Amino acid sequence: MEMKQKAISVKSLQKQIEQLNNRLVQSERINVSGIMLSAIVHDINRALTNILGTAGIRLLEETIDDSVREDFERIKLSAQTCREIINNLISFVKTEFRLTKTDIHKLIDLCVDLCQYQLVSSKIEVVRNYDKNIPLVNISMSDMQHAIINLILNSVDAVSENGKVMISTDYLKKSKKITITVSDNGGGIPRKNIPNIFIQFFTTKSQRMGLGLTIADRIIKKHNGFIDVKSEINKGSSFKITLPI
Ligand SMILES: Nc1ncnc2c1ncn2[C@@H]1O[C@H](COP(=O)(O)OP(=O)(O)O)[C@@H](O)[C@H]1O
Ligand SMILES: [Mg+2]
Repeated sequence: MEMKQKAISVKSLQKQIEQLNNRLVQSERINVSGIMLSAIVHDINRALTNILGTAGIRLLEETIDDSVREDFERIKLSAQTCREIINNLISFVKTEFRLTKTDIHKLIDLCVDLCQYQLVSSKIEVVRNYDKNIPLVNISMSDMQHAIINLILNSVDAVSENGKVMISTDYLKKSKKITITVSDNGGGIPRKNIPNIFIQFFTTKSQRMGLGLTIADRIIKKHNGFIDVKSEINKGSSFKITLPI
């Protein structure tokens, strides 16, 4: 090899090493901030549990004034919103992903229970329509729970009082798939927004972060599945998760 060519290849190797080094420093930085974020999240969650617990206990008192009750309800709802945001942040840094054979209907019931406060306070009816033939599904339970809750909470945000959220499942035996559909009779999604709703930080709400669908989509893709959306203005929206089994 000629001297000039050798010099060029050494230079390009040096450049590659430099780039690799930079990437390593970057990933260590991400790792450290991930650990820090977990610690912060843990402490914030503990504080939120205190706020939610205290507000919850005061709300059980029958003798408190209506205006005080309203204040505590607002405190409770805001603390729950903070928890939702925090949980979304956790899933950005979390790397653990363990699959377990799961009864999907039990998991959906748990998701509905965890959204009970939001559902009850907005007087939303939940209609479940389960396909009893669904076999156990291999999923990461905490992640799938997170994805389904994000869809339910979006429906809660979309429907007005006395709205309806429908959750149904289907077993597609031939294609070895299952589907979980969360639909609502809310305001629907304008057609021009549909391409954006899965993009991180896209939101049309003043007090939300726009991470819910990004995370749900990521979780479902990690399970080798996908999400379909159908929506009609003033009629409602429907999010269908398809998972292989
Ligand atoms: N069920 C739904 N009905 C109407 N709009 C929805 C629904 N689900 C999602 N969207 C729209 O998609 C956007 C992004 O949703 P998401 O990623 O969960 O973020 P966020 O709920 O924080 O706004 C929402 O702001 C809303 O405009
Ligand atoms: Mg959301």
